[in-house]
Amino acid sequence: MERLLLLVLLVCAPRPLCPARAGGWFAFSRPVVIRGLTDNAAFRALCTRDRLLAAFGQRRVRLSTANTYSYRKVDMPFQEYVEHLLEPQDLDLLGSDTLYFFGDNNFTEWGSLFQKYVPPPFRLPGTTSAYSFGIAGSGSGVPFHWHGPGFSEVIFGRKRWFLYPPEHTPEFHPNRTTLSWLLDTYPRLPPEARPLECTIRPGEVLYFPARWWHATLNLDTSVFISTFLG
Ligand SMILES: *[C@@H]1O[C@H](CO)[C@@H](O)[C@H](O)[C@H]1NC(C)=O
Ligand SMILES: *[C@@H]1O[C@H](CO)[C@@H](O)[C@H](O)[C@H]1NC(C)=O
Repeated sequence: MERLLLLVLLVCAPRPLCPARAGGWFAFSRPVVIRGLTDNAAFRALCTRDRLLAAFGQRRVRLSTANTYSYRKVDMPFQEYVEHLLEPQDLDLLGSDTLYFFGDNNFTEWGSLFQKYVPPPFRLPGTTSAYSFGIAGSGSGVPFHWHGPGFSEVIFGRKRWFLYPPEHTPEFHPNRTTLSWLLDTYPRLPPEARPLECTIRPGEVLYFPARWWHATLNLDTSVFISTFLG
């Protein structure tokens, strides 16, 4: 009787089961969108423009160019980024000339904020996870690239994803923006050369497997965070 009860508790309690469930998730070799996994309402409340500016406006953030092999890094006060660079993507600008705030976060200065983020409750056994937090204007995004596996979540806004399996290298220019790829290259692709696509909204998490090519496009001014598993 007691053993049966213990078994029932283990099956119902989400936390102790994580490794087993993670084993299930990572058996997926394709991207997955998971809805309603975590509740990040508290974190979202801290990520409004006013709250972020009040808490971090004077902090310097490190921006990267929005091209495939992020070459250039520029440091500036967060407030300056929000007030002057957080605008819709300029169609005439190259990705290599567009500054994007994503990753390179200072976890000491922004620690009080990241503590409130509830990450997807899955881990790869024996590995750590690392956050990349960002904010960017509508039409911005990172052109095709790939890396290890992880999760991506949108806190505000919507993010469109274009994904290809590792064996399908997409047609793209590494210095052009995702927006210019979408307008110039995408319409010419025959159906069999089209990527997998999805749009994630707040409350949804995308799992991206290792080595899958992906490009992102923020459909709105967006606040987003990725959890890289490595
Ligand atoms: C993060 O911020 C702290 C405090 O301002 C500073 O001492 C440290 O050098 C910064 N770390 C990085 C990696 O920039
Ligand atoms: C992309 O831009 C970088 C920096 O401006 C430049 O060094 C590189 O040659 C460019 N790559 C291509 C393929 O045009």
